Amino acid sequence: MENYKILNIKTLRPEVIKPVLESLLSEHSEKDLFCKYTDNEVILYLHSVDYRKLTNNAEKITKDKSDLKKVEFINHFLEKIDSVRSFGIKGKKRLYVGYADERKVKNRKEKTTRRKKNVSEKIGIPENNIPTKYQNEIICGNSLSVMKDFPDNCIDLILTSPPYNFGLEYSSNDDANKWDNYFNNLFKIFDEGIRVLKHGGRFIVNIQPLFSDYVPSHHKISNYFLNRGMLWKGEILWEKNNYNCKYTAWGSWKSPSSPYLKYTWEFIEVFAKGSLKKKGTMENADITDEEFKKWVVAKWVMSPERRMKEFDHPAMFPEELANRVIKLFSFKHDVILDPFNGAGTTTLVAKKLERKYVGIDISKNYCHKAQNRMKGI
Ligand SMILES: C[S@@+](CC[C@H](N)C(=O)[O-])C[C@H]1O[C@@H](n2cnc3c(N)ncnc32)[C@H](O)[C@@H]1O
Repeated sequence: MENYKILNIKTLRPEVIKPVLESLLSEHSEKDLFCKYTDNEVILYLHSVDYRKLTNNAEKITKDKSDLKKVEFINHFLEKIDSVRSFGIKGKKRLYVGYADERKVKNRKEKTTRRKKNVSEKIGIPENNIPTKYQNEIICGNSLSVMKDFPDNCIDLILTSPPYNFGLEYSSNDDANKWDNYFNNLFKIFDEGIRVLKHGGRFIVNIQPLFSDYVPSHHKISNYFLNRGMLWKGEILWEKNNYNCKYTAWGSWKSPSSPYLKYTWEFIEVFAKGSLKKKGTMENADITDEEFKKWVVAKWVMSPERRMKEFDHPAMFPEELANRVIKLFSFKHDVILDPFNGAGTTTLVAKKLERKYVGIDISKNYCHKAQNRMKGI
């Protein structure tokens, strides 16, 4: 019965229900669907259904309301079918089995192997432990030099939001040069991040779509990861709903010559090293059914962090962002790294969720703030 989805529908009167269902399903073939009957239930084998035809038929049959129980059962029967929310569409019919097959990519494994060839030389190296002097620490320093001291393959997940610039905007009046420098510096640090990630480890970057001078940073950063052979696992749209009415930069006001587009969202790009699958056991998966169902839908509506003044940091992400990323993409006891840790949101949440953590920030002030935040957890 592999070719059918099976639904069990309770009824106390199968012998009465049988002719009613035969009439209801009369315009469908056995290949589409059929029923079997036991003493207390109807077993429905569902392959494909023209649901509109069924409801039209049901209307005709239930016009005579003298047998209320019959009417109730037919409504219940249709609701039961309608409650199956996963189906494909073929012609006018809902298709309940095999509908996802055609969406499956042929030879996916081979294609994935080909794409990951850039990092494949390193993925064979066994995993290492993060040295104890770095484990569960906030480290003040330049990520580039701090990470040079980490062994290969010792981190399970990197979650970070890069600085918007490295103070380079004043060093040159040439915009292109400024941004080249910015990305060169950033990518050197990211190279170290990729090196220290374990096989199957995730590199997750929160990026805003537009800096004031039209640099598509999320595309640049995604291209960088792809060129390094990282596997694209997905992209989450973080809807911040932070439309600021006072913001009056409209570009060419009311003219198509150059309208200025505004963004109320940011992106969270998710890349994986060597494999889209990550090692871990179910007993260390702490995400709930409800959270999983909600968070795999890749649009997360979350307010921005409102306590930036309190922490004296201009660009924090909210704890809820770190909470979702860490629970959805890592297991308990995994090692989480943020190389631009700021006021320590990633490390704080990692600790709360029983992960190991390492946070690095170049600013003593922010490191201090992050360390204070961890106290009492
Ligand atoms: C966008 S903020 C991160 C904020 C953080 N996600 C939070 O919620 O608090 C970027 C951080 O990168 C730090 N930073 C900039 N250059 C760095 C470098 N080379 N090494 C380490 N940290 C750096 C900045 O001090 C800043 O705190």
